Amino acid sequence: AAVRLADYQPPDWLVPDIELDIRLDATRTVVKARLHLRRNGRHDRPLVLDGHGLETRIIMLNGKGCANWPNGDTLTIPVDGDEAVFETEVVIHPSRNTRLMGLYASEGRLVTQCEAEGFRSITWFPDRPDVLSRYRVRLEADKALYPILLSNGDRGAARDLPGGRHEITWTDPWPKPSYLFALVAGQLAALTDEFVTMNGRRVQLAIWTAAADVPRCAHAMAALKASMEFDERVYGREYDLDEFNIVAVADFNAGAMENKGLNIFNSKYILADSETATDMDFDAVAGVVAHEYFHNWTGNRVTCRDWFQLSLKEGLTVFRDQQFSADQGSAAVKRIDDVRALRAVQFPEDSGPLAHPIRPDHYVEIANFYTATVYNKGAEVIRMLHALLGVDGFRRGTDLYFDRHDGEAVTCEDWLKAMEDANGIDLKQFRRWYEQAGTPRVSVTLTQQGGRAELVLRQTVPPTPGQPDKQPVHMPFRLALIGRTSGRRIGDEQVVELREAVTHLTFADLPEPVLPSLNRGFSAPVVVEADTARADLAFLAAHDDDPFARWEAFQQLALSVLGSDDDPAPLVEAVRGTLADPGLDAAFKGEAVLLPTESFIGDAATIVDVEAIHRRREAARMAIATGLESEWWAAYERERTALAGRETALTPEAKGSRRLANVALSYLVTAGSDRAFAAAETQYHAALTMTDRLAALRALVNSQATTAQGARAAVLADFHQRFAGNNDVIDKWFSAQALANRPDVLDQVERLLKHPDFTPSNPNRLRSLVGAFAANQRWFHAADGAGYRLLADQLIAVDRLNPQSAARLAVPLGRWRRFDAVRAALMRAELERIVAAPGMSKDVLEMASRALA
Ligand code: ARG
Ligand code: ZN
Repeated sequence: AAVRLADYQPPDWLVPDIELDIRLDATRTVVKARLHLRRNGRHDRPLVLDGHGLETRIIMLNGKGCANWPNGDTLTIPVDGDEAVFETEVVIHPSRNTRLMGLYASEGRLVTQCEAEGFRSITWFPDRPDVLSRYRVRLEADKALYPILLSNGDRGAARDLPGGRHEITWTDPWPKPSYLFALVAGQLAALTDEFVTMNGRRVQLAIWTAAADVPRCAHAMAALKASMEFDERVYGREYDLDEFNIVAVADFNAGAMENKGLNIFNSKYILADSETATDMDFDAVAGVVAHEYFHNWTGNRVTCRDWFQLSLKEGLTVFRDQQFSADQGSAAVKRIDDVRALRAVQFPEDSGPLAHPIRPDHYVEIANFYTATVYNKGAEVIRMLHALLGVDGFRRGTDLYFDRHDGEAVTCEDWLKAMEDANGIDLKQFRRWYEQAGTPRVSVTLTQQGGRAELVLRQTVPPTPGQPDKQPVHMPFRLALIGRTSGRRIGDEQVVELREAVTHLTFADLPEPVLPSLNRGFSAPVVVEADTARADLAFLAAHDDDPFARWEAFQQLALSVLGSDDDPAPLVEAVRGTLADPGLDAAFKGEAVLLPTESFIGDAATIVDVEAIHRRREAARMAIATGLESEWWAAYERERTALAGRETALTPEAKGSRRLANVALSYLVTAGSDRAFAAAETQYHAALTMTDRLAALRALVNSQATTAQGARAAVLADFHQRFAGNNDVIDKWFSAQALANRPDVLDQVERLLKHPDFTPSNPNRLRSLVGAFAANQRWFHAADGAGYRLLADQLIAVDRLNPQSAARLAVPLGRWRRFDAVRAALMRAELERIVAAPGMSKDVLEMASRALA
């Protein structure tokens, strides 16, 4: 039963106002709802409401009991007149809710998650994003168990009630769709602060968590204030309520949720201090805090008409959080990280059976479409608009979009129209990015003669499921020419707008032969095929003046070398040059000396040769480690010295030093000297930051040397004991072992599945063990299929608890076409076993059947 974009119809009934009265209790919560209805247009259709798992006790229309009763998840009520008041009373059971959608219990607190379709598990409602309502919510609960009661909007007066109970009423003045409703009840303490907006409005900020974790909210709070400032400075957008609350919870399906005025977060994206969070975690916290805050305008004030438009808010908001992170730290390293993430998750999705456009046109279960394509490719599409329109043109476009659509539920088409109208341009061809799936390929050839050069760029978009034929897309392609002898840029960088299947560019009066520097800054989310000679890639890796292109040149060089059994010497020399370059900072060097991952190398091939990729990459790593051992020691010691006295600083310099020192340490441990093992063990024990402690632990865990065995066991045991009870850190302990570069990983994972700390009902823990293992290409894809079996067993078991968690585990099996016939058959067999298992959720069935198709 697929839902189709083409079938969209406006809602028959609107609900301008809703009153909720919620008597909270973990085992038995009573929800009374009063909906003020208004007929939308002239029609005589009944009111149709969504509900899921509700024990319905009362249904009333205009104050009178109703004879109509629910039919499964639907309730149909004929209504006379154009306005009506519809009331229900239902009972729900938060403590039994393991799906983590609707109202559920987490560590004794009650919390909600309503996006996309969780509100229907709380009360009967037309649960679709184009029905916007003003909410008035009375919460009542036992005061000792639930002293803090939060919801959206403005807080009313609180009042004690008889029997140790209390109540509070929250009123949200901003009409919103049901997916943005939220409540939280429980024992919580807050880190509080204040932000004064550009128009002098004072906003009370609070981040709520367990009392013991309040000090670990400081980084999130700083990020929140910086985000508020950024949205004013860059987009002219101001916050619009007197308070802004964030709650961190341990059990959460996604990263976080932008509920109006009450963001709810997976605790891993809030809690951070130097002892428990890595530098990457700190950056992720800031990025997600910004993301959810930015949704207040891109998502909440202007929302989505239907779920096919999800990228309207998610692609745009990811782009905005990426801009924020680039603004706050190293823009070059941020761009490299974003591209790496896109290639690691979105490119495989776009080239496999789960490929879909950023605006899909059908789905069975919308939860399956919170994908890297909708989010990350969606952000790349917005970034291309930014490149095509320029900073000012883009801002004109967003200003018009907010002006025109504030308070509305709109479409990607409305967004593009605002961009066009504000700039007097035509984005007709650009719309294909919203319609076509698949990663475009741009192949480039360069011919030179005398002072003339000609570049020919040919684009194709590959076929994807249901889309055999594709049209060329409109993209900004940044390029420059680099002198082959001088190593300098010749002339200016240009942004070429590719529209046709073939584009010819000519350059005259060149003072020297040139190499093209292509798709600089990754201006378009495409695969560039340039057939550049290895020596030229090495030259660009040493000279390109665009940091992204320079990093990319080394990645391409590595792909070329690792795609063959050739000597890895060119990689060793390129790394030597990068380490020695005085013009590069430590942060960039730390990125630029890393080989592409095994899965990225696999993606570049038609059929993934699991063993050969592993063997070659290991050999190259060893060559880089041993060939440059003294350079690595020098880098390690230099950066450790630079850090002395400021080990915990979060400045870009300190982060860069930790990054490079820890990359050096991992190469040193790979080289395998006792001195390196000792250094890793010493660093592990002396570490003042999680970045340094975890890097040392990972280096030792990944070492296969028997001489490192003692140290490996010791640090693993110490780590578990030291951080017992800290969920986010224990997740790292599971992941480090599941991702280990060791032949015994499968046995270790099987052992860890029986560990008392392995709680598959917690999405983070499940991901940290089972999800991480599936990302370990060499050992997940064991030739006998044991890894696939393990994954499918876990998926089938978890589906009974949490379909969203389970459905995500199906993704790795969907890549079967890219593997050899034996592995492909084993992967398919597991997908078939999943489909045949009794009682599987529609979430899993949709993913598994698409994967098999
Ligand atoms: N809107 C939330 C965010 O991006 C994510 C909601 C996730 N929902 C889901 N069904 N997976 O920030
Ligand atoms: Zn989002």
